[in-house]
Amino acid sequence: MRSYHLIAPAKINLLLEIVGDRPDGFHELVMVMQSVDLADELELKPLGGDRISLHCTHPQVPLDESNLAYRAAKLMQDCFPGRGGVDITIQKKIPIGAGLAGGSADGAAVLVGLDLMWNLGLTQDELCALAAKLGSDMPFCISGGTALALGRGEELSPLPDLDRLYAVLAKYQSLSVSTPWAYQTYRHEFGATYANTPAAQQERRRTGPSVGLLGAIAHRDPASIGRSLHNDLEKVVLGHHPQVGLLREKLAIQSPLGAMMSGSGPTVFALAATREEAQRIATQIQIELPDPDLEVWVTKFIGRGIHLAESEP
Ligand code: C5P
Repeated sequence: MRSYHLIAPAKINLLLEIVGDRPDGFHELVMVMQSVDLADELELKPLGGDRISLHCTHPQVPLDESNLAYRAAKLMQDCFPGRGGVDITIQKKIPIGAGLAGGSADGAAVLVGLDLMWNLGLTQDELCALAAKLGSDMPFCISGGTALALGRGEELSPLPDLDRLYAVLAKYQSLSVSTPWAYQTYRHEFGATYANTPAAQQERRRTGPSVGLLGAIAHRDPASIGRSLHNDLEKVVLGHHPQVGLLREKLAIQSPLGAMMSGSGPTVFALAATREEAQRIATQIQIELPDPDLEVWVTKFIGRGIHLAESEP
């Protein structure tokens, strides 16, 4: 058994529409997810016994069972007993509590890495089914690229690659948003508008904001993609965090294509058609909001999820 070095890309939501409630207590969603090249790096090494040992470069990342990377290793041991332990080191580059699925990406990388290390030969569908047990965003993190995600977020359909686009991500370092809080607050404020029968949910999906975005993606039309960005959770998160609302407003002014919050936030992104345009937006936003707490990244859309580092065979 050998070690593996994996790349775990972040995702942004080009669209997040809350359709209604599900019998399992989660929300029925329509999402369009996109992988970007801001990524964590994970080193997986075989360990004797059945020990799971976790290390991370970021001091605020928990190293116990609450970490999705730990839980992914435990799930793999439970499903495939007797294969051994694993030492996991996470080089954290994706900000935490950011709406970028950083924790899910790490968990997905552990599933993919242990499949390789233990020579299990699992299919992508089998890996995604394991991932869905741990988190709604995790199946997408495995396959990555551009995808439509329905149900809880685990029913994936690939969409045409948009890998020529860029996104400028911006986040206040000291701010994080709890995903359960964002959804619960949304239910509290907008629950009366939910579509809760299968027929009503189907109708909502057929007429909702995803229709325009899916058409724009099919035509790979950046201006129309930018106009069709949508995130229902903005309605609760921006109200509670006015500085994020201001950041989004400034990014929208700077970006000819458009800006939106990702996932449950508080990361906001601006779309750009070229790296030069993205760089200009990043520079301008730092001039307009000169705050050492504001972090900005220029990222490129990518067409894949978890993968081996380039140096790996
Ligand atoms: O699946 P995951 O653990 O990532 O979800 C985090 C939280 O987000 C859930 O506990 C739930 O509060 C909320 N959520 C939801 N509906 C979804 C996905 C997530 O209500 N489809």
